[in-house]
Amino acid sequence: MSEPMRNPAQDRALPRPPAPASIGDRVEDVGTPALLVDLDAFDQNLARMQALADTGGVALRPHAKAHKSVAIAQRQIAAGAVGICCQKLSEAYPFAAAGIASIHISNEFVGADKLAMAVELARHVDLSICVDDVRQVAAMAAAAAAGGVRITALAEVDVGQGRCGVDSPQALSRLADAIGAAPSLRFGGLQAYHGGAQHLPHWTQRRDAARHAADLAHAYVRHLDARGIACAVVTGGGSGSAEFDCESGVYTEIQPGSYLFLDGHYGASEWPGRFQPRHALFLSTTVMSTARAGVAVCDAGLKSVAVDSGLPRLWSGQGSEWLRYVAANDEHGVLQVLQEDGPALLGNKLWLVPGHCDPTANLHAQYVCCRDGYVAELWDIAARGLSR
Ligand SMILES: Cc1ncc(COP(=O)(O)O)c(C=O)c1O
Repeated sequence: MSEPMRNPAQDRALPRPPAPASIGDRVEDVGTPALLVDLDAFDQNLARMQALADTGGVALRPHAKAHKSVAIAQRQIAAGAVGICCQKLSEAYPFAAAGIASIHISNEFVGADKLAMAVELARHVDLSICVDDVRQVAAMAAAAAAGGVRITALAEVDVGQGRCGVDSPQALSRLADAIGAAPSLRFGGLQAYHGGAQHLPHWTQRRDAARHAADLAHAYVRHLDARGIACAVVTGGGSGSAEFDCESGVYTEIQPGSYLFLDGHYGASEWPGRFQPRHALFLSTTVMSTARAGVAVCDAGLKSVAVDSGLPRLWSGQGSEWLRYVAANDEHGVLQVLQEDGPALLGNKLWLVPGHCDPTANLHAQYVCCRDGYVAELWDIAARGLSR
């Protein structure tokens, strides 16, 4: 019997695909699609938000849900942040493992798998978690007691978002009393986050919505105060409301996330006030088909960029004068050619501004960070996909 034919390639293990970028590469040589960070703009956004919080005498606890990267969280803390927020318990793991000492879970949870994660995290970090139901309090108190840990519970109040959070002083009192009665828990104060206030396009609209939220939060603080319960922490606020939250006299802490990147949705808002961010996050893509007249197709579709807050747009100077991104398929981005006598298209690299940074970051393994036209750093997106 003859030997079966051997493919010589089978003698070698197939390596992983090559890395899209190495430190020192020219930006135009980065493999696409790639998530680029403009480090000059990023550094400026980071410093400006820290300065805003410092000037207002408010703690900055940035939301890591926006970037999911330990390297970024470490930079935020080095600049003065008191810790980070995560939205999910599993999301907190890479940050806790990297030594971030103080993590607030700005969300409620239910279920044995979540309680086990909370207890595990509390063994490693100073952990606080939101509650809006006495049954969550009872379950968390029992799990923390059994696990021999103490967890800080923040009562979430609804200040206009209409999502989580109690909406009456009586319900808040019940929560605070239940937390106070549990030796394995510590009452930390309130979370009062109003997501709807963040993306209002006009600065005055955001100011008014943020002031209204702060007034509601203040009424809850006074209600507990009258019952002898102090709120050490009142946390909330995002990128769109931070400047107003800092001057409210109510919030002790703000939790903005997207300010680092200024995605397309936030970029469409007015920023005339004391916080003026710049676009720092881009998706680099290559035109890889121009078979049809008037259409160019690039390699960045739904698997590279989230479109829940609108399609990505071309960055100025990066083809925005002669191309428009008009449709996202799974792996293809369809571009309308506005100017037929524009530059040769096939093989062109373009920069897109993603509409929404959080879900876009969740699609990528790393940030390719650039300065002066070269790749300066590569940062893993370690919490990518951790959504339990
Ligand atoms: C509870 C909470 N806090 C803070 C943020 C951060 O908001 P932004 O990324 O708009 O700054 C969010 C965003 O959705 C949030 O849900």
